[in-house]
Amino acid sequence: MYAMTEADLDQVLEIEQASFKTPWKRSSYKSELSCKSSYNFIVRPGSFCNNSKIVSYITFRIIADEMHILKISVAPKWRNHGIASWLLGNSFKIASEAGVKAVYLEVRLSNNAAIKFYNKLCFKVIGKRLNYYQEDGEDAIVMMKKLKEIF
Ligand SMILES: CC(C)(COP(=O)(O)OP(=O)(O)OC[C@H]1O[C@@H](n2cnc3c(N)ncnc32)[C@H](O)[C@@H]1OP(=O)(O)O)[C@@H](O)C(=O)NCCC(=O)NCCS
Repeated sequence: MYAMTEADLDQVLEIEQASFKTPWKRSSYKSELSCKSSYNFIVRPGSFCNNSKIVSYITFRIIADEMHILKISVAPKWRNHGIASWLLGNSFKIASEAGVKAVYLEVRLSNNAAIKFYNKLCFKVIGKRLNYYQEDGEDAIVMMKKLKEIF
């Protein structure tokens, strides 16, 4: 995995648009890239091919001893190959080294693939935010995973 830069944003936004009902705009990623508590990584297939196309990315923030996952996505044709699991595992390592004890995220109630994905990684549902997504009023499930148990 590589640190995301502004030069990656065209490809990141392409995956973003194919992945989310209300995709983030370039300006959102630009502000994450300039935010001190934000961590942004991309994955290219093959560790030595740093000119190949981006297939996945993650954006998270570390605030005190908490990691908040803001985005994780895999290009549609690369899904179900363990890429997001690998990317998240590496991100947990970084977070753990920074003193993170627990990881939090919100996911759309209807996003069955992502909920199964997080369940497999031992996230637990800890709450629900009603009408969380302003665009369509969908609820979000809040999930949490403790890191100190595994590192
Ligand atoms: C959720 C997402 C990131 C998973 O990425 P991925 O690289 O395909 O996930 P992995 O291959 O690491 O999958 C690991 C596990 O997650 C679960 N999973 C992943 N995709 C799934 C799907 N479509 N349906 C059911 N379970 C799924 C499975 O349990 C899988 O384990 P298995 O292969 O042993 O059955 C990907 O589907 C995606 O980019 N979705 C669109 C963006 C999104 O919704 N992001 C999350 C927002 S909160």
